[in-house]
Order: sequence, then structure tokens, then C-alpha cells
Amino acid sequence: MCGIFGYMGPKQAAPILVEGLRRLEYRGYDSSGIALKNGDFSIYKKTGKVVELQSILPEKLHGNVGIAHTRWATHGGVTDPNAHPHLSENGKVVIVHNGIIENSRTLRNLLKKKGVVFNSETDSEVISHILEYELNRDNSPTDALRRTLSKLVGTWGLCAIFLDHDVMLCARNGSPLIIGQGDGETFVSSDPHALSTHTQRVVFMDDGDIATLTTDQITMSNIHGDSFDTDITVLEEEWEEAELGEFEHYMLKEIYEQPDSLRQCINGRLDRVRGNGRLGGLNLTPLELSKLPHVRLLGCGTAYHAAEIGGLLIESLARVPSVAHIASEFRTNEPVVNPNALHFAISQSGETADTLSALKEIQLKGGSVHGVVNVVGSSIARQCGKGVYIHSGPEQAVASTKAFSNMVAALTIFSIQVARSRSLSKEKGKEIINGLQQIPHLIEEYLANQGPIMEAVDLVKDAKSVLFLGRGISAPVAKEGALKLMEVAYIPCLAYPAGEMKHGPIALLEEGSPVIFIVPNDHVKEKSRSAIHECRARGAKIILIHEQGDDISDEGDINIAIPKVNNYLSPMLTVLPLQLISYHAALALGCDVDRPRNLAKSVTVE
Ligand code: M6R
Repeated sequence: MCGIFGYMGPKQAAPILVEGLRRLEYRGYDSSGIALKNGDFSIYKKTGKVVELQSILPEKLHGNVGIAHTRWATHGGVTDPNAHPHLSENGKVVIVHNGIIENSRTLRNLLKKKGVVFNSETDSEVISHILEYELNRDNSPTDALRRTLSKLVGTWGLCAIFLDHDVMLCARNGSPLIIGQGDGETFVSSDPHALSTHTQRVVFMDDGDIATLTTDQITMSNIHGDSFDTDITVLEEEWEEAELGEFEHYMLKEIYEQPDSLRQCINGRLDRVRGNGRLGGLNLTPLELSKLPHVRLLGCGTAYHAAEIGGLLIESLARVPSVAHIASEFRTNEPVVNPNALHFAISQSGETADTLSALKEIQLKGGSVHGVVNVVGSSIARQCGKGVYIHSGPEQAVASTKAFSNMVAALTIFSIQVARSRSLSKEKGKEIINGLQQIPHLIEEYLANQGPIMEAVDLVKDAKSVLFLGRGISAPVAKEGALKLMEVAYIPCLAYPAGEMKHGPIALLEEGSPVIFIVPNDHVKEKSRSAIHECRARGAKIILIHEQGDDISDEGDINIAIPKVNNYLSPMLTVLPLQLISYHAALALGCDVDRPRNLAKSVTVE
């Protein structure tokens, strides 16, 4: 959730660190801070966004070594003292930390008994004090860190610098850290894309790793003192940061990027001749696919909604029982894992802690998990070791848009692949493959002619609550629309399968209540039509997402047409008006669209 950036080399560190923080800010943005080594430590911390920190930094801030942090509060409120970095008792060690130290209360009490005075309420501060204590016992910095880590319970991505030693130390356990090797300079970041302007040569740390860094050396070891070779990866260009260009916000830019990012996802993966999918990273033979007992798909938030759509497609096309699970619930619900089944861990960031622990639980029980991930080299991608990248390119707005469409596209290709190894005919396969090929073009068509989005915004923006309804494959789309509007515009939203409306949510309806219906021209359309009438009869105002020229197209008070689309592929079209309504409602309400309150782009705590 928080972001770490570190630098040591010949240049002035401050501008590099601030720029690194700016790129990492989407990971957490309640406060930030920076520590520079220049004979002593200069430390600056500030609540608010990175620009607030920038505003308090002196014009000339010297130092060639430094660490920086952008925070998403877990322990202790959003205050300047709780922001990182944290300095040790005698000012010899300064640290930044991501993750949670679960036994911090015990450690804090022990340290207090030894007379240590704490400057913050954070769990992280104990680390700087213990590290200094171990250093004072004649340990080398790396040994002192090892001894410190052995006392901690919890998760960490940790970076430390020392007043009396010219090294920077990093440790990882559950929170990502990537080291960048430049020419006579070394970088540390929570995220590969923040490194890519400096170097393409990186080391992805694994859980349990410790890295001892100098300006020209990266030495890897583990908590037990074993050393091992440094494994350098060369980053792909894809991870360079995208600029806003003509757009005012990343969310809108990413909505408009969907045609191109979908092309990146499906290119080379559609076999139009055989009517089949070609997802290389799955490494499953047709025989293995034909024998699958069931499929389970795991994700959180938007990724879970994509998982639900994937589950419905796999079940209806391939006739394999398939279920989507909310990853944050999975591990603690004592799941039964069938080692012959197929599991998917779906995640844009590849760092979501809930999804990561669910997949580890499955692996522990002998199950096999494939990743459906955007960020190359991320923890989930590496832990799975197999799967598919969705190739959305960097998604910077906290609200996920283009990653959703690409997750759905990747899972659609997979469904066709399993279905073709079972009973799906070549003709039917070709029909869906051709439909999928058309989707980027249909999205462009819709974005050029969006319909009465602003009328819909006027209806929802001051509403007490908004109800989203859809049936079949549109039920998860309704959930996705509700999540989006809620997270960026802070409007309470409910989403239900349309048939469930009459079993409870209908009680909410009164004169003028906005209800958004997602009704493509599929086999459940007529049932949705009845639900529209039932809502209308209670005074609700209907915003209807429908297919162009369809006979349902005037059933709403506000009717938004999407191009005609293959039934199995409608979510990639019906979600677009919902994304746009959310974006424009957030703008109309003066919300921070790209950085909604309390949220973070990658949620690395459980
Ligand atoms: O990085 P992931 O796809 O694993 O993230 C999962 C959720 O945290 C994420 O989809 C979240 O719900 C988004 N803010 C939704 O827009």
C-alpha cells in the first residue's frame, strides 16, 4: 500500500527521491517523507500528497544517499510524526517500512522499558530502534538487520540507511521491493515502473531476501546468513510511465486506452482458423484441459468482478463447473482444494495481499494456480510461475478500468480454449473469436458516440443511493459499475442480480430513485424488462444500458446505447457507460478522481 524509493550514487538524491515518490504516490497518499544523509540525517515529513512534502523542502537539499516513503496509514493516524522515515533513538539509523509488524506492541513495550522514547504511534518505528540496538552490539549492518528481522512477526518491505556505514539495506517479506542497478548508482523502489526512467536492470527481491547495497554492488543474502547470486532482470519498455497527454485525469485516459490495451491483450492469442484461443503461458495440453474437474477464480474488487464473468463464461462455454471467490475470504474459509482443478489468481497489480495469501493456501494444499496479472514480475506472477499477462500497460488511476476489460478478454480466450478441447464446435468458436477481434473497434465506436452520459450523471450525483441491476453475465458488470461510482464519487451504491431486486432491494425505491439497468440483447433480456417495469411502478428513474436498435431501447428514462455485440462479450461494452458515469459524477462532485480518499492502488495488507 505504501511506496518506498531509495537512491545512492553520485547525484543529488533529493530530486530523484521526490520524483520516485510522485510515481509511487498511487500506492498510498496520506503522507510522505524523505531522509537524506549529509554528515547527519535531514528528515522531512508531511501529511497530504507528495506536493505538500515538496512545498516544505528547502531549495538546496544536499546528500547523495537517501530514502523516501509515501504512506497509507495502518497503525497510527495520518500525522506528520507518523509519516516515514523513522529515526532511531540516537540518530544513527533511519528506516522506511511497508507492511505490518504484528508484534510491534510487545516490542514497543520492551523498548520503552529500556528507556527508548518513541516519536510516532506506528508499528514501524520499533524497527529503527532495534536495528540501532543490534548495530551497537558490534554487528555489521547486515548482521544487525538479520538479528532485527528475527525478532519481527509480520510483513515488510524495508529499507535502511546508516550514519556511520556507507550501505543501504533492504529486506522483503510480503511487501515488494525492487532494486535498480544503474551506472555507479543504485535505486530501490516498491514498483518497477518507478525505476524504468533510471535503469532497466533490476533485481526483484523474494520473500526472505536481504540486499546489501553500495553505489556499485548488490549483495544478496537471507535471514540465515546464506548468500546467493544476484539475479538481474531486464525490464520491458512497457513499464515506462505513461504521461497524461491531452487528458485531465488518468481515469479518463485509461478509459480511452481500452481499445488499444485490448489489442495488446488479444494480439497473437486468437486462432481465427480453428476458432480457438492461444494462451501460451497456460502450458496445458488439450488432454489436461478436457479433464478439468472444476475451475476456481480468485480476485478482489474489480478483479473479482472479472473473475465472476470468467467463471460464467467457462461454465457456459466449456461446461466445466466454475466458481469465482473473493480472495480475501478464501483462505480463512478453510477451502477444500482439489489438486486436479485449475485455479486462477486475478490481479492488476499482482501485489494484492489477500489474493497472494489465497494462492499460497491453494499451493500449500497441493493445488496449482495460474496468474492473470498485469504487472510483469509482480509477487503474484512470480508466486504462480505460470499464467497470462493481460498487457494493459501501466494503470495509474486508483479506479481500475482498462485492466478490467483485459482481464475479461484474457479469461474469455481461456474459456474458448477449454471449450474447444471439450464440446464447443469450431463454428461457434470462430464466431466468438471473430466477435472478440471486433471488440476494440466497437469500443472506439461507442467512445465516439457515448449517448446521454451527462443526463445520467445529473440523476445520480445527488442521489441518496444508486441501485445497479443486471442478470447473467451483466450481474457482475452491475457490481463493477457500483464499485466504480462508490469509490470515485463516494455515492452509496448497491448492485444485485436483477432477479433478486424483488427479494429486498425494492424496499429502497421511492419517487425518483435512480436505478441503472444493464440489459444487453441476450437470453435474459425479457426477464430484465419485467424488473424494469417493477422498478418503474415504484417511481424509480431508470438509466438503461442497451444495445443499439434493440426493442428494449426506450424502456428507460435515460437510454444509453452500446453497439450490438456478441452475447458472451457484452461486459467489455456495457461497462463503458458505467465507467464514464462514475468519472463524470466524481468530477461534478469535486472529488479527486485519480486518488479517491482512503484508497490505494495496490492493497498489500490483508
Ligand atoms: O491489483 P488488483 O487487481 O489485485 O486489485 C484488486 C482491488 O484492490 C482493485 O480492483 C480495487 O477494487 C480497485 N480500486 C477497483 O477500481
